[in-house]
Amino acid sequence: MFDEKDLILEARHVTRRFPSAGGRELVACNDVNLKMYKGKTLGLVGESGCGKSTFMRFLVWLDRPSEGEIWYRGKDITKIKGKELWQMRQHVQMVFQDPSTSFNPKMKIRDIVCEPLLNFGRIKPSEKNAKARELLELVELPGDFADRYPHNMSGGQRQRVAIARALALEPEIIVMDEATSALDVSVQETIIELITKLQREKQITIGFICHNLGLIQSFGHQIAVMYLGNIVEVMPGEGMADICCHPYSKALLDAVFDTKMDFSKKIEPIKGEPPSPLDVPAGCPFADRCPHCMEVCRETRPILRELEPGHEVACHLFEGRGTA
Ligand SMILES: Nc1ncnc2c1ncn2[C@@H]1O[C@H](COP(=O)(O)OP(=O)(O)OP(=O)(O)O)[C@@H](O)[C@H]1O
Ligand SMILES: [Mg+2]
Repeated sequence: MFDEKDLILEARHVTRRFPSAGGRELVACNDVNLKMYKGKTLGLVGESGCGKSTFMRFLVWLDRPSEGEIWYRGKDITKIKGKELWQMRQHVQMVFQDPSTSFNPKMKIRDIVCEPLLNFGRIKPSEKNAKARELLELVELPGDFADRYPHNMSGGQRQRVAIARALALEPEIIVMDEATSALDVSVQETIIELITKLQREKQITIGFICHNLGLIQSFGHQIAVMYLGNIVEVMPGEGMADICCHPYSKALLDAVFDTKMDFSKKIEPIKGEPPSPLDVPAGCPFADRCPHCMEVCRETRPILRELEPGHEVACHLFEGRGTA
């Protein structure tokens, strides 16, 4: 499916446990194995609280896993520190959902977009004006926006500034955590067009967190579906609707068609609420809500198996099928 020579980042058996009241543990990520490829987008989808941000935060060193490894540029980046970490940070950047909370409101856009370059000594203060204009033009904003403050811009424009800032160091990987979720649908579309255009031009690898499977399938090359800290399905974005087979992924897709008001289609809402992350069932985490639940699903946790190249699913319904 993807060429293994283009593999640039690999998460192996990544688990994150958070201590909780009464000596209990919350497992936000459970044995996550994911790969990211050069110039491609990995979309991570799932309901609120399933562990998407917890996983992506490891890639930008906002947190470290309790167990597991993440290999990038020949290193396990969960272990690096000091100068090595400082150097590595240049290659992976992040765009958050709401840039107004990550920007200093007292800084002009010029200073916001050039800050990473100054921090890493890549430009001199005298080069700031020209560089800011260049970066703003890259995200299709007028160069004279450099003189504005973040509150003098619309949400879509601020998100373009956040992308310009993330691009400043010419990173290999950009992690976007719900980067378009707060924007209205038409602005969301233009931002996604911009991201995909820049990705093609610069061969950037993107990790895109999203609730909406319908949105991510429109531009994600690889989609990973997460449920209660577990990856339950990984599949190519192209043709995803035809091959997606985990009952949870299918339920997420149904929810997408629901919002598009396709009344000709029978809508099967996901039954029930996800169990508490402190009380994940011993077997399949989706068992209680699954319309196809069997006895084995309550007893044994299904593992991710390859059905065909690029398509893996963790579900007892598909045991014995595929290549693994
Ligand atoms: N620092 C922390 N300490 C304790 N629990 C945490 C911490 N960070 C996250 N969690 C818990 O881990 C689980 C996963 O959280 P996470 O933020 O990764 O979810 P998410 O999929 O990004 O959700 P959303 O879509 O709402 O952003 C949640 O149950 C959350 O409460
Ligand atoms: Mg999140």
